[in-house]
Amino acid sequence: MRASRSILLPFLSILLFSIPLVTSNSALDDFLRCLPKHYSNPSKPIADAIYTPTNPSFQSVYELHAYNLRVLTQANATLKPMAIIAALHESHAQATIFCAKHFGLQIRLRSGGHDYEGLSFSSSVPFVILDLSNLRSIQIDMASETAWVQTGATTGELYYRIAEKSNVHAFPAGVCTTLGVGGHFTGGGYGPMIRKFGLSIDNVVDAQLIDVNGRILDRKSMGEDVFWAIRGGGGTSFGVILSWKIKLVRVPAKVTVFELKKTLEQGATDLVYKWLQVAYKLDEDLFIRITPVAITGNGKGNKTVQVSFIGHFLGQTDRLLQLVQASFPELGLQRNDCIEMSWIESTLYWAGFPNGTSIDILLNRVPQSKVFFKTKSDYIKNVIPKAGLETLWKMMMRIESIWIQMNPYGGRMAEIPESETAFAHRGGNLYKVQYTVHWSEESSEATKKYVEWIRKLYTAMAPYVSSRPREAFLNYRDLDIGSNGSNSSDFAVAKVYGAKYFKTNFLRLARVKAMVDPDNFFKNEQSIPPFPSI
Ligand SMILES: Cc1cc2nc3c(=O)[nH]c(=O)nc-3n(C[C@H](O)[C@H](O)[C@H](O)COP(=O)(O)OP(=O)(O)OC[C@H]3O[C@@H](n4cnc5c(N)ncnc54)[C@H](O)[C@@H]3O)c2cc1C
Ligand SMILES: *[C@@H]1O[C@H](CO)[C@@H](O)[C@H](O)[C@H]1NC(C)=O
Ligand SMILES: *[C@@H]1O[C@H](CO)[C@@H](O)[C@H](O)[C@H]1NC(C)=O
Ligand SMILES: *[C@@H]1O[C@H](CO)[C@@H](O)[C@H](O)[C@H]1NC(C)=O
Ligand SMILES: *[C@@H]1O[C@H](CO)[C@@H](O)[C@H](O)[C@H]1NC(C)=O
Ligand SMILES: *[C@@H]1O[C@H](CO)[C@@H](O)[C@H](O)[C@H]1NC(C)=O
Repeated sequence: MRASRSILLPFLSILLFSIPLVTSNSALDDFLRCLPKHYSNPSKPIADAIYTPTNPSFQSVYELHAYNLRVLTQANATLKPMAIIAALHESHAQATIFCAKHFGLQIRLRSGGHDYEGLSFSSSVPFVILDLSNLRSIQIDMASETAWVQTGATTGELYYRIAEKSNVHAFPAGVCTTLGVGGHFTGGGYGPMIRKFGLSIDNVVDAQLIDVNGRILDRKSMGEDVFWAIRGGGGTSFGVILSWKIKLVRVPAKVTVFELKKTLEQGATDLVYKWLQVAYKLDEDLFIRITPVAITGNGKGNKTVQVSFIGHFLGQTDRLLQLVQASFPELGLQRNDCIEMSWIESTLYWAGFPNGTSIDILLNRVPQSKVFFKTKSDYIKNVIPKAGLETLWKMMMRIESIWIQMNPYGGRMAEIPESETAFAHRGGNLYKVQYTVHWSEESSEATKKYVEWIRKLYTAMAPYVSSRPREAFLNYRDLDIGSNGSNSSDFAVAKVYGAKYFKTNFLRLARVKAMVDPDNFFKNEQSIPPFPSI
């Protein structure tokens, strides 16, 4: 019984797959035959980069960089990639573009696989993954305080390599240490130094990109329009980002971190209300994030909300205490709440590793665990009234497994004009909010339940957040805000999500797209379509 099932199942799935996709399969064969003829480095055979479903490593290569189990389990059961090209050399990526375009296959680009909607590893039409995770060299030049970082390097690897060279240099990017810098930077990329140094892309000075014709371009040869577009506009639409040249930033040898927790019973509402009024105006060396979570307090089954105030200060305790005393004394920060450490140790602190963890953990390229989740985002332009906070707490206590994060802007973010890069959420935004529901049951009922919950919460928050457009953060990708099937060719639909992600920069992005990829080869459910030429 067990034996016959295990023999039958693979056959069944091959049958289910091949019936609707007969033409695609022959296109796939043509594509696979095309690849070896179009790459240029005989010392790195492209055959070693190709995984089709018959390869015993196919499944593990597919799942290794695929973070959201909600998307992965669904895609895994319905439509997997026809092939994965895990490039070992840039010419493998060039060949993949050339051959996929020639035979009309849709490709998905993947670096770290953390896309919230899994657009780097799933699609509702047959597709091939161009996986860039092996292209991950990091070359640091301390003389010029710059580095070239390939797309598949993780944020953790980048932090580690910088710290190997210097304890007073750093790079402003995300808190999670397994993000691929390819996807992460191109969507903006932010972390606890955002108020001092802005986003990752604000510290990018050059890039290498493979265009739709397979050419490798740098800033000069791609031109300022494309270089503008890939900084905040999302990589997928314009080509394959191979590497970024970044400018390192200078940090003190010691930074200070802290975390204070307050429940509703301990006055969290008043404190958050005060935080909303001050956190975006504090000294730009100081970043205080809040993360409210719903918890069951006091052991009697009563629910409450507990808010963590997590701080990062580019300086030491004495000055931190003076600043907090002057601007936010209600926080009640005490000297013994403050922990001084090097910047590299602070990356471990933010990533949630226990005190004393070796920094070698930054070299772990894959997350320690994966969850099912759905995330939405908002921007706050006015202090939320207490009634709004109370609505939020009530909704949170009804929803299981919800986790919210509010991040202050201001500082450097308010100094950079909206049009400077494609990333448009600058001055006037006081806070960015992330709402995440997560769960561990694998069932469509669970998915439906949690996703409905977070959509309700999002609706309830509408009065307190940006509107017309209701702005959203591209790195927190959310297909609910508009998508056109697997293929963003409808300009009217793209204008809707485009305005939310990019505000008026969307139109310039669409014009750049029309210049460099008029046939819309590089696309996904929420990419930028070419500006219609009428
Ligand atoms: C646990 C977790 C924590 C996070 N924390 C933060 C945070 O602190 N700050 C923050 O800003 N964001 C954060 N994010 C969001 C993260 O920045 C985005 O999910 C980002 O897109 C991930 O990049 P990736 O390369 O890992 O993902 P991928 O899924 O590989 O790529 C994301 C998108 O970029 C495209 N892409 C990837 N590589 C390339 C390339 N070389 N050229 C062109 N297009 C490409 C993909 O097709 C996809 O559409 C977090 C996400 C997770 C899951
Ligand atoms: C994907 O499907 C395979 C069977 O085809 C299964 O073994 C594997 O556990 C699945 N992975 C996920 C993440 O659901
Ligand atoms: C739990 O909540 C109920 C209703 O609000 C309240 O009467 C009770 O005192 C609470 N219990 C504790 C231990 O706080
Ligand atoms: C972390 O560990 C160091 C020693 O390894 C210790 O001095 C310090 O107090 C610890 N900090 C916390 C917050 O536990
Ligand atoms: C794109 O969206 C429009 C409007 O919702 C719809 O009419 C059209 O069929 C969609 N196209 C695709 C390819 O899904
Ligand atoms: C994308 O959508 C357009 C317009 O709806 C359609 O003509 C085209 O065939 C679609 N392409 C793919 C690959 O689905």
